[in-house]
Amino acid sequence: MSTDKYSRPRDHSLAAILAALGIDLLLLCLILIAGISRAIMISSLPLTSSATPAAIPTLTTVIKVYPTAFPPAAPTTTVPVTALPTEPAASTPDPRPPLRVLADQHGLLVGVAVAPWWLEDPQYAGLLLREFNAITPENAMKWDTIHPEPDRYDFSQGDTIVEFARHNGLKVRGHTLVWGNQLPQWMLEGKYTREQWIQILHDHITTVVGHYRGANNDHTVFAWDVVNESVSKEGALFDNFWLQKIGPEYITLAFQFAHEADPDALLFYNDNGGEGLNPKSQGIYNLVQGLVKSGVPINGVGLQMHTDTAVAPPEAELVANMKRLTDLGLQVQITEMDVRVQYINKSLSEKLQDQAGIYRRVMSACLQSPNCTGFFTWGLTDRFSWIPGYTGKPDAPLLFDENYQPKPALDAILEVLK
Ligand code: XIL
Repeated sequence: MSTDKYSRPRDHSLAAILAALGIDLLLLCLILIAGISRAIMISSLPLTSSATPAAIPTLTTVIKVYPTAFPPAAPTTTVPVTALPTEPAASTPDPRPPLRVLADQHGLLVGVAVAPWWLEDPQYAGLLLREFNAITPENAMKWDTIHPEPDRYDFSQGDTIVEFARHNGLKVRGHTLVWGNQLPQWMLEGKYTREQWIQILHDHITTVVGHYRGANNDHTVFAWDVVNESVSKEGALFDNFWLQKIGPEYITLAFQFAHEADPDALLFYNDNGGEGLNPKSQGIYNLVQGLVKSGVPINGVGLQMHTDTAVAPPEAELVANMKRLTDLGLQVQITEMDVRVQYINKSLSEKLQDQAGIYRRVMSACLQSPNCTGFFTWGLTDRFSWIPGYTGKPDAPLLFDENYQPKPALDAILEVLK
């Protein structure tokens, strides 16, 4: 590992970074124009529905797009990255441009899922701040962590993450308000009427979104995954906890409650396996189209993109899916990308090349789609990925390896962004 690998270049100016990379001024201008057009397109997306929200009497029909999220503010590093214990005394700087510097030129948020305790490690935090301009809590804001008992909320983990972000100028995607998984025991065992479940949902969303909106409302938590994984593989509503307790209206209610708690936040429907064109993505499309038509305050769709080298959707399908969502006036973000390599029988370096091709394809589809405003991976380093625990097998699904070293996948997406 080199001295400056995870620290910022000594000269912080963009011109110096670009000069070091051999990027000339003309190219920079072209990149800037592309980025500005994306930002303009994002801020002018027609998010107002003309439909009458008859079924939702209290709904505000004009849905405000958070105006200053793109491009995000430049991060200010406070972690003492020059004093990393593992770094040798002197070495050449990492020749790669930081991912977030290139992403900024496209008005794109780039982020990773984090746990609060990883942020205390200077090596982890140094790499994170060098490369990314956004984070999302992997588990810290899920119901079982943040609302462990009926009358008790525990914001400690979420607060650590949001404070780290605020301090370092990162944006946060809130994840997640309504999901059928990771629910606390008191809910799983709870005997409540439908009306009581609606009240519980209302109080939870109001309290959590209100907490992170905060008194200052500085938009650090600029977006929420309001509803997570509610569509089945076949494209119908998934038979989850909330469908059983409340019925299909839980989705509309959740967006409405979240909008009331923070009218400035971007509100997403988030799901996995519906990134390309298939029955699930059709089901997601039908769902969000219905929401938009009835004036429900939804701003975007999160495409999780937990995938592997065999099943990843073709680029043209990704672009087509993003296009039809754009036509509804919605943003799209890649919210949880990781690419498993355990299912193919090849050498590690071949697997990592295949993996790089998939990351390249997804970033390329995102750049071709003016409504694609974020690209998040589900973790920073293979060392902490959830995939080995989830699948029971070793894997290497992320952009940085177990030793925090960049993988071919990182080079692939940098190339697309250049
Ligand atoms: C996963 C976490 O990464 C794990 O640590 C946890 O044990 C289970 O949940 N879709 C989602 C994420 O929306 O919240 C999930 O995160 C991965 C799949």
